[in-house]
Amino acid sequence: MPNEPYLDASVRWKLKSGLVPFRELRTAEVVEQLIDSGLVTEVYGAVGAGKEADVFLAEDAGRVVVAKAYRLYRTSHRTRGAVKSDGMARLALQEFDLLAYASGHRVPVPEPIDREENAFTMEYIGDEDGPAPQLRRVELESPETFASELLDAIERLAHAGIVHTDLSPFNILVHRGHPVIIDLGQGLRVDRLGSTPWRRLYEAQTALQHALGALARYFARYDVAFDTSTVVEGILRDINRWGGAAAPE
Ligand SMILES: Nc1ncnc2c1ncn2[C@@H]1O[C@H](COP(=O)(O)OP(=O)(O)O)[C@@H](O)[C@H]1O
Ligand SMILES: [Mg+2]
Repeated sequence: MPNEPYLDASVRWKLKSGLVPFRELRTAEVVEQLIDSGLVTEVYGAVGAGKEADVFLAEDAGRVVVAKAYRLYRTSHRTRGAVKSDGMARLALQEFDLLAYASGHRVPVPEPIDREENAFTMEYIGDEDGPAPQLRRVELESPETFASELLDAIERLAHAGIVHTDLSPFNILVHRGHPVIIDLGQGLRVDRLGSTPWRRLYEAQTALQHALGALARYFARYDVAFDTSTVVEGILRDINRWGGAAAPE
């Protein structure tokens, strides 16, 4: 056995023929891809770059929209090398679907517009002065009202059968004083049989406790209490309606 793994002929052929991009697309190429795919007609600039995606402010036939493109490569925590993620189109599809589902249940989220491959467009949350800021950057004027609106939104989301697994002051925008929840890519659909029921419930419970704990710490600075346990219990009861059994102790 050779020590160095080598590429077999079919892999080499794929790389050469361009079917498998072997490096991360540069921003200009991502922008080009967004325009070529017909998702947007113009890209104004980057709104944010997170762990897995680039987010742009763009225009689609005269309307200001936000385009989110999942990266094709990400850094593996285990090997620290770049790994090709086949899952990016799936993530874009999942986020698009969850946004559609959530906005259908009147949860304050950006409305999804269109999707192509690893990218999708959604409603722009902001005004002519710029995108709505993340909660972590804002000094709230009425923190108590905001907290209760946020809890209401989280409960509505659970009611729709969705648990956000990355809910933090990074993924909550403050738009005209009200919360808008974003970044649903890793959300759990708890109303679907994916894994066994108790596992879904257990994952949902862990994610909820984590998120609400972080939000409780955030609101402590305003002296606003965030009653985490009652809320988690209520939401889990709600989720249980979908047929999940009790989580193991
Ligand atoms: N619909 C939107 N309207 C305005 N700004 C947005 C919108 N979606 C995302 N953003 C901005 O882009 C940032 C990154 O988006 P997010 O969906 O959280 O991507 P990531 O998965 O990379 O964290 C957000 O924190 C927010 O500031
Ligand atoms: Mg985010």
